[in-house]
Amino acid sequence: MRVIAAERAALAAWRAATGAESPAELVAAVARAGGAPDVAVQEFCASVGIARPGAGGVHPRVPDVLGGPAALGMVHQTALPRTGRRRGGVFYTPRGLARTVVDRAISAAGVPGTACDPAVGGGAFLLAVADAAVTAGRDPAVVVAGLWGADIDPVAVEVSRLALRWWAADHGVDDDPAGRLVVADALAGIPTWRDAPAGFDLVVGNPPFLSQLRGRAVRTEGRRAVLVERFGPAAGGYVDDAALFLLAALDLTAAGGSVALLQPVSVLTAEHAEGTRAAVERRAVLREVGDPGTGWFDASVEVCTVHLDVPAEAPEASYGASKSWADRLAEARGLPAVDVAAWTSRGSLGDVARVTSAFRDQYYGLVPAVTDGPRPGQPRLITVGSVGLLRDEHGRRPVRFARRRWAAPTVDLEVLEATSPRVAAWVRGLLHPKVVVAPQGRLLTCAVDPDGTIVPSVPLSAVSPLEGGHDAVSPWHLAAVLLSPPVSALVARRYVGSGLGPETLRLPARALRDLPLPGHRARWDRVAANLADLATLDDPRRRTEDLVVAGTPMCRMYDVDAAELVPWWAERVRATLRPLTGPGPG
Ligand SMILES: C[S@@+](CC[C@H](N)C(=O)[O-])C[C@H]1O[C@@H](n2cnc3c(N)ncnc32)[C@H](O)[C@@H]1O
Repeated sequence: MRVIAAERAALAAWRAATGAESPAELVAAVARAGGAPDVAVQEFCASVGIARPGAGGVHPRVPDVLGGPAALGMVHQTALPRTGRRRGGVFYTPRGLARTVVDRAISAAGVPGTACDPAVGGGAFLLAVADAAVTAGRDPAVVVAGLWGADIDPVAVEVSRLALRWWAADHGVDDDPAGRLVVADALAGIPTWRDAPAGFDLVVGNPPFLSQLRGRAVRTEGRRAVLVERFGPAAGGYVDDAALFLLAALDLTAAGGSVALLQPVSVLTAEHAEGTRAAVERRAVLREVGDPGTGWFDASVEVCTVHLDVPAEAPEASYGASKSWADRLAEARGLPAVDVAAWTSRGSLGDVARVTSAFRDQYYGLVPAVTDGPRPGQPRLITVGSVGLLRDEHGRRPVRFARRRWAAPTVDLEVLEATSPRVAAWVRGLLHPKVVVAPQGRLLTCAVDPDGTIVPSVPLSAVSPLEGGHDAVSPWHLAAVLLSPPVSALVARRYVGSGLGPETLRLPARALRDLPLPGHRARWDRVAANLADLATLDDPRRRTEDLVVAGTPMCRMYDVDAAELVPWWAERVRATLRPLTGPGPG
């Protein structure tokens, strides 16, 4: 939270000093003490129904971090109750990010004559447009007269009005944008402004992110019907409100204009947003997906920016003809290019191995049968925390299982047999050589179990070689596929945005079977033998460095050029290193 924390701390201290109670009172107090025009502050107070701030009292100096019109929105949102913010998707944009997005839009489409933010909040984006336009030499009076906005929250509309009046005054202009900033539900219909142009040059902003998968923001049937009526089937499923704002923005944009909206990364990849992506590309050209990085908001969701150009006529290329939205994000994140069609590959992992994943039943069945401490002859329980590079780190690092800390959890098969014969049979079925894979991490981190003594816990998967046939492979062959630079890059690109953070690879267990196998068997055999040697290295640092050296031969298994891939992959391999604390293998 690079910005919010500083603002929150400054605000708490300032609030205590002023005695301001509600978010609106605080906004008025900050505006007054910061030097906003008195008439604008008075009208703000009258509009939102509060008394004028600090009549007669002297307020302490406003801290720099809260200074100027662009801080008013942050003051407002930071003072709002957190539950309401989550339910309404109220996370205002820090000025640095708003300016970056606006500059990017302007660099491609030019300085807009008119701009609109349909979910304007405290006006962060309109102020960023105003600053950028003035920097480009435009007349402030003309600039501010070309800014329009709407928000469902009447207080937010007044906050942005106050902010724009203050900005105008700071630039020697007497302007009240009252008619250009309106209270409206921008998804239910096009807001009605006084004397608005037929379309805006730039529609910009950060619409509310309202995931429909769970939680209080899930829309009612009535709301769904309204949205389907306006946007068609694209709005029928679980699509996030933020994605529908892309369509709403297109309704507001002039031919030849552009759209720049923040979006949750899931909108680029989620199946339920597919209809919306297709509807957008029927009307606009996806120019760019930007990656603003993490830490801008006090919410855990990953964000990106979607830049669209609205041509004078419907675009020729329809959805799917251009690069996918996820590909654009992969490019913005600097992920290496992957062209699987050009690889020398034969078959897929499912042809030579069986994938087994633990689920709830196995997890709960195991709980009463797990004991701590190494016990020779008993299967070792492996959790995500004890999957190292090529080998497990059971007993070398404490792990958590069933809400407890364990030094070296093992499964007592006799107890398990008595308490849950079905899970005991499942465990016995896994006591053979295999690989256990973590579904999420810098790589598809996997540990080989050459002796067949590991029981994988949720969410790990076991990948076991199928026996017989001329294609038979060892677990080392499977590890060579899972850890290879080409497969790592393929997973990073195909599932971009689905991990817990921008650096995380995530692969659903069902997709393991589809991973392509190397086409050069002799090269694959050699890498597998090398990995088996490498796994005997006790020192994880040496194991890591030796694996990095194996990166190029791993690329050759697929005839893939190692030059770009290996440096990217090596960084990830090294990032998996974590210190060991325990005594040694149990
Ligand atoms: C994520 S905040 C961003 C505000 C502002 N654009 C910014 O970047 O600072 C989303 C804003 O959308 C508003 N909002 C939520 N649903 C809306 C809707 N259906 N129509 C218009 N505004 C809406 C919220 O009140 C909130 O001010």
